Amino acid sequence: MSILEIKNLNLGFNIDEKFYPVLKNINFNLKCGKIHAIVGESGSGKTISCMSILKLLPDNTKITSGQILYKNVNLLELNEKAIRNFRGREIALIPQDPMTSLNPLYTIFDQLYEVVLLHYKISKKEAKELIVSTLKKVNISNPEQRLNNYPHQLSGGMKQRIIIACALLGKAKIIIADEPTTALDVTIQAQIMHLLLKLKNENNVSIILITHDLALVSQYSDEISVMYNGQIVEHANTGEIFYSPKHPYTKALIESVPSYTNNRKIEPIYGNVPSIYDEINGCPFHLRCKYMFAPCKTINPNLKKVDNHIVRCHLYSNLDY
Ligand SMILES: Nc1ncnc2c1ncn2[C@@H]1O[C@H](COP(=O)(O)OP(=O)(O)OP(=O)(O)O)[C@@H](O)[C@H]1O
Ligand SMILES: [Mg+2]
Repeated sequence: MSILEIKNLNLGFNIDEKFYPVLKNINFNLKCGKIHAIVGESGSGKTISCMSILKLLPDNTKITSGQILYKNVNLLELNEKAIRNFRGREIALIPQDPMTSLNPLYTIFDQLYEVVLLHYKISKKEAKELIVSTLKKVNISNPEQRLNNYPHQLSGGMKQRIIIACALLGKAKIIIADEPTTALDVTIQAQIMHLLLKLKNENNVSIILITHDLALVSQYSDEISVMYNGQIVEHANTGEIFYSPKHPYTKALIESVPSYTNNRKIEPIYGNVPSIYDEINGCPFHLRCKYMFAPCKTINPNLKKVDNHIVRCHLYSNLDY
């Protein structure tokens, strides 16, 4: 069963009175209690896709079509006041930079107490006990001492854990984790991922995991959507993606990671992701694609169902050229 559905989302930015498309026909389904990863190179639109769920978008954003359905509500139609009832409560965000969601002027206790006040009718003493026990759950050592710390006194991994504690206290149903571990060393990365996995397994939280790190998604995610230039170019279960990638971009991403090449040569993907300012004809990946043929230069392929994958590539079109 889906808990969140993005349907045909199209949006772009107005820059100097011109409209630049950024997300093109995004369809995305988050199943209840599952981890759905979004992967893709820098600039492919991962963060903007997730920010659109909570309507935390730049002022110059124009949504041209689409729906984001959560509990039969189209989040895109909510005004600022109404969407605030969902942010951090129903749907929590662990952002790329944890400082953007922690207030540098408040102690850890103050930040967490604010969440408790919204959700529980308990005394301040009980709130403190609840906060301390939640900090223990997210593996913060000496939680009593940490309560009086300000965010800048904590390490990156600790800040991420405080944000996860906020989500736990707020009883979030969905966590959007935007590169939650990029700035952390590998051992702390693993701890944060285990914590997210625990939330999924014990609290039935559904998670959108955004990352560049294919090793991470292979280990933790249930499904994967691969993004390129503001489009989802492939979607399938994690096992399917790694066992039998269909889109040349997905294949290239996997071939660029040492551990998946089975001692074959690592092949970097040449060239860059196009920017929103580039006008592209045909498939946006065609200039970098090993399998490019004539139609790729002129026609952007539609999504096709291939085995258990959804793929946007002419290799799988039944068109007669
Ligand atoms: N406020 C903005 N104004 C103009 N362009 C923007 C703005 N924010 C993002 N973009 C552009 O939108 C595109 C998608 O950006 P987004 O941040 O979603 O990428 P991303 O996939 O999250 O990348 P990364 O992996 O680097 O975080 C990029 O081309 C980016 O340059
Ligand atoms: Mg991003």
